[in-house]
Amino acid sequence: MVGREPQEEQTIRLGLIYGSTREGRFCDTVAQWVTAQIVSDERFSVEIVDPARMHGERPLKAQIGEADAFVVVTPEYNHGYPAPLKALIDSVGAEWHAKPVAFVSYGGISGGLRAVEQLRQVFAELHAVTVRDTVSFASAWEQFDATGGIVAPDRPRRSTATMLGRLYWWAVALRVARRISPYSQAA
Ligand SMILES: Cc1cc2nc3c(=O)[nH]c(=O)nc-3n(C[C@H](O)[C@H](O)[C@H](O)COP(=O)(O)O)c2cc1C
Repeated sequence: MVGREPQEEQTIRLGLIYGSTREGRFCDTVAQWVTAQIVSDERFSVEIVDPARMHGERPLKAQIGEADAFVVVTPEYNHGYPAPLKALIDSVGAEWHAKPVAFVSYGGISGGLRAVEQLRQVFAELHAVTVRDTVSFASAWEQFDATGGIVAPDRPRRSTATMLGRLYWWAVALRVARRISPYSQAA
């Protein structure tokens, strides 16, 4: 195609994945803030993928299969990531292939970064590409106010913008590549 694609074709369908299913989870606060940032970025449309609200494997397969890119919002549990997140990841296979995954993490002093580093290994096995730039909230409960806003928003906004910029680049590049040549035929 010569020239620019139609607007709709440029939109990246982003699946925003909740990492926690815990009762009273802080994940809602972080994920809602991140979702608001993404929604204000016209390059993306967002679909929430919440393991606490999943009913069966088929809708999950469809959700992951239809998305072009993912943002995983994960806490850190005992220096790893939550088991329900692993169960979600493992219930889907080829739908992850040749797609980019970015991370927003939260926790205590490490800001959930240990969970993110482990998730990179898992997604490599699923032929997904993880984005280097992350957003991380150390002592997360001190960074958000009672209304879900961030007390000092400049830095997290900047890192979210960087992460989304990188994610968009990969999402466009990989979507074009998947269309030109199905990834299943790459080996
Ligand atoms: C089982 C469990 C283990 C945890 N282990 C860690 C940890 O290793 N590192 C850390 O920074 N925070 C740890 N925390 C604190 C969590 O990061 C914090 O409770 C966070 O709010 C959990 O996310 P959630 O509320 O969305 O489930 C742990 C919390 C739980 C419940």
